[in-house]
Amino acid sequence: MKCPLPLLILLLLHLLAAVSTAQDFDFFYFVQQWPGSYCDTKRSCCYPKTGKPAADFGIHGLWPNNNDGSYPSNCDPDSPYDQSKIRDLIPTMQAKWPTLACPSGDGSAFWKHEWEKHGTCSESILNQHSYFNTTLNLKKQVDLLGILRGAGIEPDGGFYSVDSITGAIRDATGFTPGIECNVDESSNSQLYQIYICVDTNAGDLIECPVYPRSKCSSRIEFPPF
Ligand SMILES: *[C@@H]1O[C@H](CO)[C@@H](O)[C@H](O)[C@H]1NC(C)=O
Repeated sequence: MKCPLPLLILLLLHLLAAVSTAQDFDFFYFVQQWPGSYCDTKRSCCYPKTGKPAADFGIHGLWPNNNDGSYPSNCDPDSPYDQSKIRDLIPTMQAKWPTLACPSGDGSAFWKHEWEKHGTCSESILNQHSYFNTTLNLKKQVDLLGILRGAGIEPDGGFYSVDSITGAIRDATGFTPGIECNVDESSNSQLYQIYICVDTNAGDLIECPVYPRSKCSSRIEFPPF
């Protein structure tokens, strides 16, 4: 069968469009942070204008990442953060995605940074509203504090092995998390951020293709908040 030239060109254009809109990352890191470990450092922290957040892990972000450990960032300058698009989500974001940066803020600078640096890199899959909504839904799905408490790991200032923390989360979710530590003012290694890997549709948890550098001692503090 002979393929007429116009049809061939049309087919090629379709192919090109499909390639250029396909997502150009391999998976997401869903990152939660322990506020006690953000605040007890040399840098310290500032509670948001809405008041001290709950003593729970807070969302840091949903970050497109590549299997080789690299990640895309600031992918679309034509898609600025627009809070009017997520007005319905703001009360939940204030509760679950609180800013701790100084000076004290209402969260919008934090969410703007997360959207513009990371969110714009998964726009082919999630628009601005679904990016934030999906991230909030993941937080509901993965209750890290509940999981750790269930395994006797409490934010009581005690020291726990990284293996026991990783194991508790693996047992509860089916997947091994990444653990990132920082240090408090006395240089104790402590539980700072937990990375859960999610597929490119931001629907299912997956085994991480690659883990972030952990910087943890083998036993780490879980400070109160
Ligand atoms: C946001 O997520 C909720 C689930 O918590 C879902 O029911 C709702 O449809 C989503 N909203 C939009 C606009 O997609």
